[in-house]
Amino acid sequence: MSDRSSMNDSKQEWSTSSWRSKPVAQDVVYPDAENLSTVLQQLKSLPGLVTPTEVDRLRKQLADVADGKSFLLQSGDCAELFSYCNPTQIEAKLKLSLLMSLIIIWGARVPVVRLGRVAGQYAKPRSKATEVVDFDGEKKEVLTFRGDNVNGFDVRDRKPDPERLLKAYFHSSATLNHIRASLSSGFADLHAPMSWSFSHVRSPALQAEFERIVESLTDALDFMKTVGADPESRSESGSSLSSVDYYISHEGLMLEYEEALTRVQKPSSKGLHSNSSAEREERTPSEVPYVLSAHTIWLGDRTRQLDGAHIEFFRGIRNPVGIKVGPSMKPDELVKLLDVIDPRCERGRVTLIGRYGAKNVDALLPAHIRAVNASSHAQSVIWCCDPMHGNTTSSPSNPSVKTRLFSDIVTELASALRIHQSLGSRLGGVHLELTGDMDENGFSVTECVGGSMQLQDRDLARNYQSHCDPRLNYEQSLDIAFLISHFLRGQRLGKTSGAFSPAPASTLVNDQAGGSPNEEQDQILSELVKGISARP
Ligand code: PEP
Ligand code: CO
Repeated sequence: MSDRSSMNDSKQEWSTSSWRSKPVAQDVVYPDAENLSTVLQQLKSLPGLVTPTEVDRLRKQLADVADGKSFLLQSGDCAELFSYCNPTQIEAKLKLSLLMSLIIIWGARVPVVRLGRVAGQYAKPRSKATEVVDFDGEKKEVLTFRGDNVNGFDVRDRKPDPERLLKAYFHSSATLNHIRASLSSGFADLHAPMSWSFSHVRSPALQAEFERIVESLTDALDFMKTVGADPESRSESGSSLSSVDYYISHEGLMLEYEEALTRVQKPSSKGLHSNSSAEREERTPSEVPYVLSAHTIWLGDRTRQLDGAHIEFFRGIRNPVGIKVGPSMKPDELVKLLDVIDPRCERGRVTLIGRYGAKNVDALLPAHIRAVNASSHAQSVIWCCDPMHGNTTSSPSNPSVKTRLFSDIVTELASALRIHQSLGSRLGGVHLELTGDMDENGFSVTECVGGSMQLQDRDLARNYQSHCDPRLNYEQSLDIAFLISHFLRGQRLGKTSGAFSPAPASTLVNDQAGGSPNEEQDQILSELVKGISARP
């Protein structure tokens, strides 16, 4: 264990409110403290949105991810709005997650743990507390939009309102209810006919590759049907071909809200499992604190200070947790953080969500992997790649529009896969901002540039919907799923040529303007990267 002098002392007693004695980064100041306290009391009496048994089931499934037996797919909006709580948008997100997981399972031949940034992803950290806006023709400084559970996107509605926390609870609850009801009504039935169209794919080689994968996947599903693996047959884990597990997550930013939805209780015997030798030694657990606002929450890159309130809260909860790891993280700081959050080194308790940016990942990720590998956490963490948050840029034609280049996203993801492979480590998952939303003409959102549909910078205005970060659209999300599937298949079959090129992926990106990739390089990757011609 490392030196703990400058951090949260994990020997100090933890309670659901011990975070209150620490500095709270990204704090929201409510003008009406009394109203806040009334709202929090109400939240404390409401039922949890998820159950401890479900949280423990996810812990078990994440332990499998840490062991390399499953792959993690975490995906959804940057910021959910209350208005997204409608059947069309909820189903679009769910469908996309199911399709992506199916594609990944086909290549990897391991289960996929599906985790939505959904049913509670309302609060946002911001780099600036205020902004200057046009307010009835006048320039005025107002608080920035902090997410629908804090204030409104409308510039006249920026005062933090505690009632929004209650609204967040009820919108999360309605969203989750629709997810659960859809899944238990056969939404995930893989035997239902699927219409795949690749008409948007510009590259003939890529189109052929996608068609090959889908043909093979459809054959596999037909075969399973023939041998009797019908939708009714449940597997040991309780999932079947027609009903699947789907978990919810959000950034654990608003600690008042998380505290109010924490319930200290005994784990159900159903949810118990031996996750590590340390845990096996653990007494039949007495009462433990479960955050029941989501199955898992993550710690953002702006709120992971070693002596801060967020880490204090996160260290005591039973839920598995994510930690965003950005360029400012020092390797020894990362290990200290793990010592505090996961002192018993439970497999799958912590998912490290790297978000370095395509330009930084080669320089920064290896040192982080080496530091963790040299610590007691080497076997227990899950490494996950968030190729979104280090790659946000401005549109060259309109600098006030945020975008992301598909080539940067693919480059970071490809680099992460390659770096882990070369260091004997494993990338266990991916964390994506995406949406399956379409306009009334069936046209996907246009927020990121590139992908197999070769979306250009000039196309961004066509259907730009995000109130926060730019998201991958339906087609771009499937591109990423095919890419991951293709890589994991190559790895499974022991083919280096089926995997990404041994050369850094950035070479591929730079090569794309120049023409054909060399033979060593991976075809599907270079075809995907070719989809980008507009770079700022
Ligand atoms: C996010 O996930 O939406 C986010 C704000 O990420 P990060 O903390 O990595 O910047
Ligand atoms: Co975001």
